[in-house]
Amino acid sequence: MIETKFIEKHRQDFDSRISTTSDQESLKQLRIDFLGKKGCVQALMKELREVPREQKQETGLLINEFKQHVNDMLRGKEEELGKPASHQPSKNETFDTTLPGRREITGTLHPITQVMEEITAIFMGLGFQVEEGPEIETDYYNFEALNIPKDHPARDMQDTFYVEGETVLRTHTSPVQIHVMENREPPLRIIAPGKVYRCDSDVSHTPMFHQIEGLMVDKNVSFSHLKGIMNIFLQEVFGKDTKVRFRPSFFPFTCPSAEVDIQCVICGGKGCRVCSQTGWLEILGCGMVDPAVLKSVNYDSEEWTGFAFGLGIERISMLKYGINDIRLFFENDLRFLKQF
Ligand code: PHE
Repeated sequence: MIETKFIEKHRQDFDSRISTTSDQESLKQLRIDFLGKKGCVQALMKELREVPREQKQETGLLINEFKQHVNDMLRGKEEELGKPASHQPSKNETFDTTLPGRREITGTLHPITQVMEEITAIFMGLGFQVEEGPEIETDYYNFEALNIPKDHPARDMQDTFYVEGETVLRTHTSPVQIHVMENREPPLRIIAPGKVYRCDSDVSHTPMFHQIEGLMVDKNVSFSHLKGIMNIFLQEVFGKDTKVRFRPSFFPFTCPSAEVDIQCVICGGKGCRVCSQTGWLEILGCGMVDPAVLKSVNYDSEEWTGFAFGLGIERISMLKYGINDIRLFFENDLRFLKQF
């Protein structure tokens, strides 16, 4: 025979146990003890069978109420414990106020971005404006207007990423020269930093790399202006003692053309893997804008002359920081990137 008092006692028992439950394990046990097959509520249900008919309804209601109470409390406790436990310090744990705080990890600019910004700042100081052009180019801007003939080896499928038909990923920043000259009248002094793409990969080549193009067009611009600007620029970046050499070269869009080398700062000129044992590293190509290019943008080559240059930012960064493998720039290893 179940009496109200009897159920009340179970309730008190449950309440006191749940109030001291503070971990998942004992909560699980509490649920088993009260709601399990052999638990308290089930036992009460069994006893209900023995209760005389006239009391059955009342007692049944009480048991149900008790069951509901147990359910609600267990669910509440479950939620409370389920939350990421707010750290409860144990008795013998103390708070050490002398411990250093946790440092916020801050990001840094990628070394390529840093060098790009540095170079851009130098040329802006020399009166050059920054321009941008598309990375997907047509054959016309990447080759044709730059006087690169149809059978030129640079057009080879092995060097150029063809998108489709006449569209390519630009293989250099030189097409920006054409865009700028088409839209502006001389005199002008611009630089164009950006990504370029070539099908090439080894310690000093990656399929995507960065260049800065430079172009100056004005009256009476000569090769000595070009040399002067290149010298100022290289001494700004690498210091006053930088050894620089101009080598005659060829580009279809400049004439005369030159390549500028800097003494290898990895080996000091002795010869190493980076400079292919030559002691020098080519860092830029340059020359006087070919009259054929001026003609393609309807500039009068009798009135205007100009020079252009293109430099690889990865190369310059490698020399500046003594990095011997270009691929390090693109592996995104924080141990590398954090050093700049
Ligand atoms: N576009 C050339 C290259 O990518 C570099 C260059 C630019 C040379 C301008 C001369 C003048 O190799």
